[in-house]
Amino acid sequence: MEIFIDSADVKEIQEAWDMGVIDGVTTNPSLAAKTGRNYDETIKEIAKIVDGPISAETVSLDFAGMMKEAYHFAKMHKNIVVKIPMTEVGLRAVKQCASEGIKTNVTLTFSANQALLIAKAGGTYVSPFVGRFDDISEEGMQLIEHIRQIYDNYDFKTKILVASIRNPIHVRDAALIGADVATIPLSVIKQLTKHPLTDIGIQKFLEDWKKVPQ
Ligand code: G3P
Repeated sequence: MEIFIDSADVKEIQEAWDMGVIDGVTTNPSLAAKTGRNYDETIKEIAKIVDGPISAETVSLDFAGMMKEAYHFAKMHKNIVVKIPMTEVGLRAVKQCASEGIKTNVTLTFSANQALLIAKAGGTYVSPFVGRFDDISEEGMQLIEHIRQIYDNYDFKTKILVASIRNPIHVRDAALIGADVATIPLSVIKQLTKHPLTDIGIQKFLEDWKKVPQ
């Protein structure tokens, strides 16, 4: 499974990249707002740090506007993936992008049927939001299982990018189900590195090392 960092903060992205475990980046308007920076500048800076897919999100809801933003992002850097909301117009834009070789990530996906349509339209990635689904008492990971099953049934090439990840259990389950990508906030990536027995073990080895003649 590929790991993307879900962030628009270049410091965080640099830190995760230096850790050696990330393959790409996803951003969205809310993450961009947290940085207080110009979005285009941020995306260009991220592209200098990370050599992998970088999702940049469109905010237009009409076809012409979406395509204008898609072309704008696509020409910014070869690694840009255009993030498009899951709407009827969005699907049309996905199809158009696919026909022109522009990669897409269809966001705000909450049902298996939406994911089916995204694959039909030629989306590069589908982004089901597991955390937000859990928040309304639905089962985020069951949605991932269903999408995996449907894509495998018909050999769809659209990649399942698990988004809205809130904890390490989401990451483990995404990997067990066979999701293609998990996009994870830095705080959760750091949680993945931790285990109390690792810390206790390091402490014990360091103490015992002092008893070894130098
Ligand atoms: O990038 C989209 C997604 O990961 C958002 O996560 O935590 O705002 O639901 P969250």
